[in-house]
Amino acid sequence: MCGIVGYVGQQQAQGVVIEGLRRLEYRGYDSAGIALVHASEGRGALAADKRAGKLANLEKALDERPLPESSTGIGHTRWATHGAPNDRNAHPHLGAAGRLALVHNGIIENFAELRAELEQAGHELRSETDTEVAAHLLERELRDGADLTTAMQRICRRLAGAFTLVAVDAEDPDRVVAARRSSPLVVGLGEGENFLGSDVAAFIEHTREALELGQDQVVTLSRDDVSVTTFDGAPAEGTPYHVDWDLSAAEKDGHDWFMRKEIFEQPRAVADSLIGRRTPTGELHLDEVRLSDGDLRDIDKVIIIACGTSFYAGMVAKYAIEHWCRIPCEVELASEFRYRDPILTRETLVVAISQSGETADTLQAIRHARTQRSKVLAICNTNGSTIPRESDAVIYTHAGPEIGVASTKGFLTQLVACYLLALYLAQVKGTRYGDEITQVMNQLEQMPAHIQTVLEGAADVYALAQDYVDARSVLFLGRHAGFPVALEGALKLKELAYIHAEGFAAGELKHGPIALIEEGLPVWCVVPPRGRDQLHDKMVSGIQEVRARGARTICLAEAGDESITPYADALIRLPKVPVLLQPLVAAVPLQLFACELATLMGHDVDQPRNLAKSVTVE
Ligand code: M6R
Repeated sequence: MCGIVGYVGQQQAQGVVIEGLRRLEYRGYDSAGIALVHASEGRGALAADKRAGKLANLEKALDERPLPESSTGIGHTRWATHGAPNDRNAHPHLGAAGRLALVHNGIIENFAELRAELEQAGHELRSETDTEVAAHLLERELRDGADLTTAMQRICRRLAGAFTLVAVDAEDPDRVVAARRSSPLVVGLGEGENFLGSDVAAFIEHTREALELGQDQVVTLSRDDVSVTTFDGAPAEGTPYHVDWDLSAAEKDGHDWFMRKEIFEQPRAVADSLIGRRTPTGELHLDEVRLSDGDLRDIDKVIIIACGTSFYAGMVAKYAIEHWCRIPCEVELASEFRYRDPILTRETLVVAISQSGETADTLQAIRHARTQRSKVLAICNTNGSTIPRESDAVIYTHAGPEIGVASTKGFLTQLVACYLLALYLAQVKGTRYGDEITQVMNQLEQMPAHIQTVLEGAADVYALAQDYVDARSVLFLGRHAGFPVALEGALKLKELAYIHAEGFAAGELKHGPIALIEEGLPVWCVVPPRGRDQLHDKMVSGIQEVRARGARTICLAEAGDESITPYADALIRLPKVPVLLQPLVAAVPLQLFACELATLMGHDVDQPRNLAKSVTVE
């Protein structure tokens, strides 16, 4: 939700900032803007440009009218919260005298009262944003004699809400100052240059050495120095870390979309997320889980909190945890969690699943859980992000950077982490024998090859997408662990193709949704593997019921399952895997379908309308 870039060094800042914005554009693309500090008639001056719409609009404007040479700059790509996505509301925002430029991610909750205070003092605000208020406050501090760092500390103490702010002052041209509270910001440490970004993708081309900032901190960057303080001005320290992926991970690598590239990276991402999880004696070992076995043995309930696709990974986890660990597991939308007065005790393990580690709803939910003294374990793909930092324990997924707004490899690797957690709990609690755990681990380790097999059939799914390019509505049915897969398939289609799509538990169909079935309606059916229970056969009955009413059925069924053939208008084969692990293969054709359909419809797959990758506002 908004991408922020800052630079001070020896290179041309315009190029560095625009390139950083290009890599962060997935975070928001309602507008883009840049401000540079340059020398003019022996004094520092600001030069800025900002445009509604995608970064390309700003780039075109800069091609026609480049900004002056400068080696200090900030930039912003916006996901609108306060005020329409137009040029006026685009960032950067300037102070009243045009001395200070500011970019912002987050929401300043007390902006209305601050705005009233400024207007009473004669300030004229030009935009509808909360950000401009902070720009005027900052510049007023500068006018009163504070330097930019002190000014930032002072205003942050007055701001409520979650925010990252990055500012430059025309009269202090070699300095960029930033602040963060509950909103992402990382420092990139270079040689004779330093960077700021909402995430490391902003500067990965220049350096892989980063500095993680804590809560309520201000950071001041010059070419050769980075210093951190609290909002009160006390010295503080960031945590240095090395980024273990390189620029190629943030490029499309010959694919038309990041999303398609990320779908095809899934065998590797799943394999990487499984590496190093077993001891030489075969025991499961999760070294990032900083909770003692004693603590874990005492856990009597698991509550999973997450949003969107991560929530669906949590739904799959519930089946695994309850089956393998025999402890109750609830799954809750993070945005609802703390508003229902949940029952939490010291024996409750709260599991927060978040690809980005920055989702505001999930963050607030874990904060609430910790006030109730529950233990919080994060499943996260982003090192150093806020959610794992504020959790008692973490399992990192190793998907690498996910840039397509629609989550794909993030989802599959979250599933892997959920299975690992469930097996680990089962091991610690002794609810499964060691050889049972080993058997599931062996099955998990075969999943990358199975996912690869599904990907090799991508052409069949693409052909299906051709057939359904005019569909206005698509339904998805599943049972058991296939139900969250159905929900995920529907979410992918909604967010990318902008058509009505809904997922249902197949057994629930006859309680109402079957009324939606009409002639020609495409219905994807995730067929459970044949097993000892009746799940599979019940699903086959459900498929017959919708087909009898005119639906066109597209069935995802395991190899060799011929019982489905008479009722499938189209049949996509899945490798034979256990029912609990089937989501790892069944989700893939649904991702491919949504990606291809949206491409055929002419949509921007990586940057769907109205969305942003990290939702850092509640
Ligand atoms: O970063 P998170 O996993 O916390 O994000 C949660 C959701 O915002 C995210 O999964 C969203 O639903 C995706 N656009 C789905 O493709």
